Amino acid sequence: MKQALEVNAGDIMKDKQKDSPFVEAVRNYVKKGIIPFHTPGHIQGRGVSEEFRDFWQQALACDLAEVEHPESGHDYEVPRKEAEALLAELYGATRSFFLVNGTTEGIQALFLAFFKDKDTVLMPRNVHRSAIGGLILSGAKPNWVYPEIDRDWGIATSPNEEAWLKQATNISGAFHLYPNYYGLCPDLDHYLLKGVPNLIDEAHGPHFPFSKKLPQRALRPGVTATVQSPHKILSSLTQSSWLHVREEKDVHNIARALGLIESTSPNFLLWASLDAARAYEAAKANRWDELIDKVYKLRQDLTMIPGLEVYNPQDRKEIKQFDPLKLMVKATKIGLDGFELRDELRKRGIMPELAEPQFVLFIITPAHKDEELHALYEALEDIATLKRKSNIKRRELPVLPRLKAILTPKEAFFSPAKPVKLKEAIGYIAREMIIPYPPGIPLIMPGEEITKEVVELTQYYSSLGWPLRGLEDERAEHIYVIE
Ligand SMILES: Cc1ncc(COP(=O)(O)O)c(C=O)c1O
Repeated sequence: MKQALEVNAGDIMKDKQKDSPFVEAVRNYVKKGIIPFHTPGHIQGRGVSEEFRDFWQQALACDLAEVEHPESGHDYEVPRKEAEALLAELYGATRSFFLVNGTTEGIQALFLAFFKDKDTVLMPRNVHRSAIGGLILSGAKPNWVYPEIDRDWGIATSPNEEAWLKQATNISGAFHLYPNYYGLCPDLDHYLLKGVPNLIDEAHGPHFPFSKKLPQRALRPGVTATVQSPHKILSSLTQSSWLHVREEKDVHNIARALGLIESTSPNFLLWASLDAARAYEAAKANRWDELIDKVYKLRQDLTMIPGLEVYNPQDRKEIKQFDPLKLMVKATKIGLDGFELRDELRKRGIMPELAEPQFVLFIITPAHKDEELHALYEALEDIATLKRKSNIKRRELPVLPRLKAILTPKEAFFSPAKPVKLKEAIGYIAREMIIPYPPGIPLIMPGEEITKEVVELTQYYSSLGWPLRGLEDERAEHIYVIE
């Protein structure tokens, strides 16, 4: 057996082994000098604190598994807890935790901490895939509330309040998306349920406490815990997140669940970046107001360009507040769909966070320079003058098909399955998810019946070259279904 596993040096293509394709791909991006309007929020290191910049100069030396602390000596848990206590104080939490596997880790830990097999959780259907992981790990059943759809922009916003409350019977807890990927927030106070845990995916809202011009933070009476991705918009490193708990009584359960899924080799560079990001926000929070004013001005200027539209959810009943730093721009009136608009922006050295059929989304953070905001304006203005065509025809496809759940996500995950051609999968129960990424909202969950709409939508996304995750077959021609 050992013999079989040994690498035969003769078979190795020696020249190829000198290559580092991933290292090269990353380097190439940096070399191109693209202006990134996407995560991470520190924008290629510009937005980190001086403290973290110094730390990073010695990154390899600081990649450690030991520390030296005046009281605890080598026990890194002591400085970690000190740093987490400062974080909790800044965010008004009873206890905060550093996470090294993103908000995904926090969400999955919350499901494990509060739900068990067959518990029912009230959830908006447009959750990120990490919450499906939480359902599979805990065995809980989702009670999906379908969100409202903004048909002009082709996005799921949030469930309306009546629908949410109507479905809130016989449930073990609620999972809230606040804000959604596009920075849209429902009136959370009205959606919190009494007497059960209310868990919040606030991945896109770690900056909310720092300006009154942003939506109100999620942490408030009635909320059990909230998870945020500071790497998306603050200045910590990709993959570093944090979780805030409101009441002492819940800390033990959450710590227990985190202990189960967290790596035993946490990356100190990630923890240090969280600590530095917190200190930076505590010292410099006033820069958000200034940035938001600039972005409102930019939004206003962009709306004056003939042919462009800027998303503003003011007329949507289910949305109470929104984050202006999530800038969504549409150019369909001049004949460009979201993907073409992204390609035109790329040609002009600008990369948005996301392109969807109708629009592109830019994330703007305090790390962006004024010149970069101006470059964004100029690029869009230039595109609008170059491409004046007729309005494009819109495909009328559902944003989120309504599907029948036959099994719970956990039952489906553990059931025997076989791959079938996607075209022939109608009527089968899915064991895999199909997830256009970003934004990471599954079209179908494990345990749901595959319909014609799911197949058509998947083929449509594939034809656009949109990355589809969740399927073993990356070309999305086959799907694993329950046997
Ligand atoms: C709404 C939402 N929740 C959770 C996550 C997971 O966050 P992370 O990438 O930090 O694990 C994402 C990631 O994009 C997200 O968009």
